[in-house]
Amino acid sequence: MDRGGGAWWQHGIFYQIYPRSFQDSNADGVGDIAGIIERLPYLQALGVDAIWLSPIFPSPMADFGYDISDYTGIDPLFGTSEDFDALMSAAHAAGLKVILDLVPNHTSDRHPWFIEARSSRDNPKRDWYLWRDPKPDGSAPNNWLSEFGGSAWTLDDATGQYYYHAFLAQQPDLNWRNPQVREAIHEVMRFWLRKGVDGFRVDVIWHLIKDAEFRDNPPNPFYREGRPPHEKILTQYSTDQPEVHEVVAGMRRVIDEFDDRVLIGEIYLPFERLVAYYGNDLRGAQMPFNFALLSTLWSARSVEKIIADYEAALPKGAWPNWVLGNHDRPRVASRVGAAQARVAAMLLLTLRGTPTLYYGDEIGMHQVAIAPDQVRDPFEKNVPGIGVGRDGCRTPMQWDATPYAGFSAAKPWLPLADDFRHENVVNLDADAQSILHLYKALIQLKKQLPQLQSGDYVPVAAEGDLLLYRRASDGGAATIVLNLGAEPLSIESDAAGLAGEILLSTLMDRNGERIGDRLDLRADEGVIIGAPAGQAE
Ligand code: NOJ
Repeated sequence: MDRGGGAWWQHGIFYQIYPRSFQDSNADGVGDIAGIIERLPYLQALGVDAIWLSPIFPSPMADFGYDISDYTGIDPLFGTSEDFDALMSAAHAAGLKVILDLVPNHTSDRHPWFIEARSSRDNPKRDWYLWRDPKPDGSAPNNWLSEFGGSAWTLDDATGQYYYHAFLAQQPDLNWRNPQVREAIHEVMRFWLRKGVDGFRVDVIWHLIKDAEFRDNPPNPFYREGRPPHEKILTQYSTDQPEVHEVVAGMRRVIDEFDDRVLIGEIYLPFERLVAYYGNDLRGAQMPFNFALLSTLWSARSVEKIIADYEAALPKGAWPNWVLGNHDRPRVASRVGAAQARVAAMLLLTLRGTPTLYYGDEIGMHQVAIAPDQVRDPFEKNVPGIGVGRDGCRTPMQWDATPYAGFSAAKPWLPLADDFRHENVVNLDADAQSILHLYKALIQLKKQLPQLQSGDYVPVAAEGDLLLYRRASDGGAATIVLNLGAEPLSIESDAAGLAGEILLSTLMDRNGERIGDRLDLRADEGVIIGAPAGQAE
């Protein structure tokens, strides 16, 4: 059976750029829009179809752009509105879609809306944010905690009320129960959609509506010492409220005012709650991000279970998606190890659904250790020493072996990985068996084989470190055999239904090998098996 996949965002491959760290064009040590334009040929050659840019809007940068002070401008650090228009034209001319980050849950405390709102209790914009009176003893209105440490409430001395911020005090939450807020953000969306932007990744979309009564959150009985302090309470009343789905549907209606755009939601929730964000009749987000692979135990059985649970939870007609890394989570190459990062790449690009790559994962970039005096991330600054820091996955892209890795002519804002002189795009491009070439080959194969595009996911029973599945469509099947372990494996071909030839090995050295009675996999090896090119099965 062929299960569709006709829209560009269903057959496309997404690539997240963290603009501060991709390419600096003006030697200030921070990446920018002109730098991204320079690197479009690289992205084209890689074969991706859409780029998502983390925020590029004016911001005091308390949370590196996730604190926006003007939703429709461009921060001078990244360039100008003209630079952005040039990026749009160049990307579209190169066949690349452009996705922007929409951050509607909170603004910067320097946003004119908040400046007005805090100016007096009766300011017309007061209700655009979440204000509550102190408790009789002067303390915060409830026990909600900021994800970046401490209370989620900050007292505004001048007006005597607290405002709510799920993240930093410099990121006050907007009040999405107020229709004017909804309309204002819808207008922001239209502003960019009119410019031809192809969609949005919506920041913390599951946070948008809070309990109308601001009830205390219950304690988390599973809290463990050493975990971030905000995990001490559950977020029962502060996130994932039933009314959020109407808000998401409202955003989707704006998306649908334009042709062929996509709404992606950032959501960290268990599958049964995550899939509700597809909306009633799929009128919500087309792609609620599936982050399960970011935190799974890297074992064949755990990954197999995640895939099965996700496939089972998806509403009828909902399109799946998969993610291996982003700017908030440790690099996949460090989570699973360099050898398994290749297996993870094969998994990402052969599962059913849209993959999103995180910049640098295609060259195996690892998590960089950040010395205490080089920490930039506010989360790490507020909650030091327990490993929450996100700087290590945001280090500059490693383009070449020049002093600043071809990223910049000046010292970069974050340190470079110490192995960048070997592990960089130029070197890996010259090595036909590199992880970069593996990514390119996987992307090409996904584009060539309809079964990888839109075929069903068919699990095949396997044991130990072996993960086995087929992607089957009317036109044929491909079988994916992954060794998630560090020991070689041998499989009886008949029993596993293996036939045809190896279309691609993660080690890039046995393409075209016919499948005999047994398939031997080396440690940390994965293969895709199918009918030889040009032959139906
Ligand atoms: C999620 C973003 O991905 C993260 O980087 C940011 O700090 C928070 N939302 C707050 O906007």
